[in-house]
Amino acid sequence: MTHAAQNLDTRSLQALDNAHYLHPFSDHKSLREKGARMIVRAEGVYIWDSDGNRILDGMAGLWCTNIGYGEKRLADVAYAQMMELPYYNSFFQCAHPPVVELAKEIAALAPEHMNQVFFTGSGSESNDTVLRMVRHYWSVKGQPEKFTIIGRHNGYHGSTVAGASLGGMKAMHKQGGLPIPGIHHIPQPYWFGEGGDLSPEAFGIQAAQELEKAILDIGEDKVAAFIAEPIQGAGDVVIPPSTYWPEINRILAKYDILMIADEVICGFGRTGEWFGSQYYGIKPDFMPIAKGMTSGYMPMGGVIVSDRVANVFEEKGGDFNHGYTYSGHPVAAAVALENLKVIKEKNLIHYVKSDIGPYLQAKWQTLVEHPLVGEARGVGLVAAIELVKDKATRTRFGENVGIGEICRDLSVENGLVMRACGDTMIISPPLVITHEEVDELIEEAWLALELTLSHLQAQGVV
Ligand SMILES: Cc1ncc(COP(=O)(O)O)c(C=O)c1O
Repeated sequence: MTHAAQNLDTRSLQALDNAHYLHPFSDHKSLREKGARMIVRAEGVYIWDSDGNRILDGMAGLWCTNIGYGEKRLADVAYAQMMELPYYNSFFQCAHPPVVELAKEIAALAPEHMNQVFFTGSGSESNDTVLRMVRHYWSVKGQPEKFTIIGRHNGYHGSTVAGASLGGMKAMHKQGGLPIPGIHHIPQPYWFGEGGDLSPEAFGIQAAQELEKAILDIGEDKVAAFIAEPIQGAGDVVIPPSTYWPEINRILAKYDILMIADEVICGFGRTGEWFGSQYYGIKPDFMPIAKGMTSGYMPMGGVIVSDRVANVFEEKGGDFNHGYTYSGHPVAAAVALENLKVIKEKNLIHYVKSDIGPYLQAKWQTLVEHPLVGEARGVGLVAAIELVKDKATRTRFGENVGIGEICRDLSVENGLVMRACGDTMIISPPLVITHEEVDELIEEAWLALELTLSHLQAQGVV
């Protein structure tokens, strides 16, 4: 036990939580009634709650604990770095060894034309940074009217004002008067939900051409950039049809606008490449990163910047009036460096690409045999299933039934963290997951589906 509060029993912890703790993305009324699940320790791909239940973490925390839990090497470097230099900033012409080493390492992993990194504290801060960089770039180039950034409905780019505005989550926009001006959203390449009678390939082209339409409507001279996740994560794990990214690439090559590939989830191995952009052949100007860069052991994010942008900043940009107290934090940087070493030494990128990724995807496909599952899809170690009332017509149960939440709760109660996005169940386990653990994940996912079906039958919904 590392903290006094961990000696308290579950009820006492929940009472403290209810009295004092405001949770992110939570309905506090129902949370207070039920009481939060207290997670007290973790090892490998498993977490334990305060009642002693072991749960397979099918979401790697929030898509971030890529190397799994309990990697002592990261704790050791954090301790050593805290003793050596616990904090210093990179403002005012300073730097320190861990941050410059980390920038070098990340540049070496990024696509060849991207060699500079700006550090932040999170994925959201990375996207706030990107918005400012994009507009600064065009302003420095003498084209400040190139201001609008095009994002996608249901895209997720974080929860700060700029992050939530760039994202296309309606529920987030409703709170706080978002999006801010100068952001336009186009439809997502979500074939299962929105493809209608089109084949996935035809729909992929159609969805990509929405970008061209938007550029022409707004005017190429007013569009600054396009932002998208290579695989849309929080917005239902949308695996784009095979035609989507090639068509987007064609459009981006035709018009003078910048490409922002949000790699916060896809980065650091999730697709079986270091970055999702490499998986799909995207040529970004900016790659916001976070999560897997430290495997969540320390909060840290960043923006990898292309040479064409970095050169403009250096030559003509002057002072870039932007930065965070914790930009390039030395302890976070040291932990990130060690995390990258672990990923390399364990050969995790190759493991995801050629071994555990294909293994998980093949097993995941078997879930389609369940009467509730309309589609199973995935890439590398990220996957989704669609829960449906009718497989043939791809008809969902909808908000009133709340099947996703029912399935999620039953899944967690029976030993597996799956996440619900509406009627879609998603997973994104640690990259170190073994074959046996994948087998367990699939068995538990199937059990959650069975229990969900029984629940719906008892309610008379099916
Ligand atoms: C694609 C993407 N971008 C940005 C973010 C925001 O990152 P953070 O929660 O670290 O601010 C997330 C978080 O899930 C994400 O999935």
